[in-house]
Amino acid sequence: MSVTIKSAREIERMREAGRILSITHEELSKALKPGMTTWDIDHMGEEIIRSYGCTPSFLNYNGYPASICVSVNDEVVHGIPDKKRFLQEGDIVSLDAGVIYEGYHSDAARTYGIGEITPSAGQLIEVTRQCFFEGIKFAKSGNHLGDISAAIQKYAESFGYGVVRDLVGHGIGANLHEEPEVPNFVQRRRGIILRPGMTLAIEPMINEGTPDVEWLDDDWTVVTEDGTLSAHYENTILITEGEPEILSLVNGSR
Ligand code: MF3
Ligand code: CO
Repeated sequence: MSVTIKSAREIERMREAGRILSITHEELSKALKPGMTTWDIDHMGEEIIRSYGCTPSFLNYNGYPASICVSVNDEVVHGIPDKKRFLQEGDIVSLDAGVIYEGYHSDAARTYGIGEITPSAGQLIEVTRQCFFEGIKFAKSGNHLGDISAAIQKYAESFGYGVVRDLVGHGIGANLHEEPEVPNFVQRRRGIILRPGMTLAIEPMINEGTPDVEWLDDDWTVVTEDGTLSAHYENTILITEGEPEILSLVNGSR
């Protein structure tokens, strides 16, 4: 398969998937509090997604057992919701979710602090979010994909943070993962030339320490090797003739 250009009809479906996903993240962010479990978040997220007649993309994807990936502190991505894992004041938690609307996917992630968090944890979250916005300044027709990657890496590293190498963003559409891969770091090749109608999930995963990660024995949860905090911010975007459209971020949400 190669990189696909979406039709107006496909884009309309992805827009709706993104709108519902954005609302899902907004609702979840309001519910977060110390004492709740990571399973509670997954349960609530699945209910919200299904209340719009949509399907959670991640549930049973390659055997993943939940609808929302919930990753706490040194967990980078793909944390598995657990009825015995309680959120505590001072934790940071990354929520990654996917929605399917009429056969089309949207994928987005956010990291939040639980109650009061340290200034350094707060900075990591804000810089990771800004990495996405630095990247999409280059998400324009005629640019190389690698221009986005370079901007993300440059911004993250200017704070001394580690850009995760073992996981990347991706094309998205009728499938959760499509070509091309969207790295958050520079590679030898500058990548494909961006064209209107391409839809990409851009998802910086940024560690306070080194870029190195490892997998836990559950074969899903990715953690930082050095035990430092990690944050994740992701949206599904559309390349247009002009500015990119952020499909999974509706007016005024973060
Ligand atoms: N947003 C992630 C990704 O882009 C989550 C998918 S992993 C899953 O790959 F298996 F949990 F679905
Ligand atoms: Co993704």
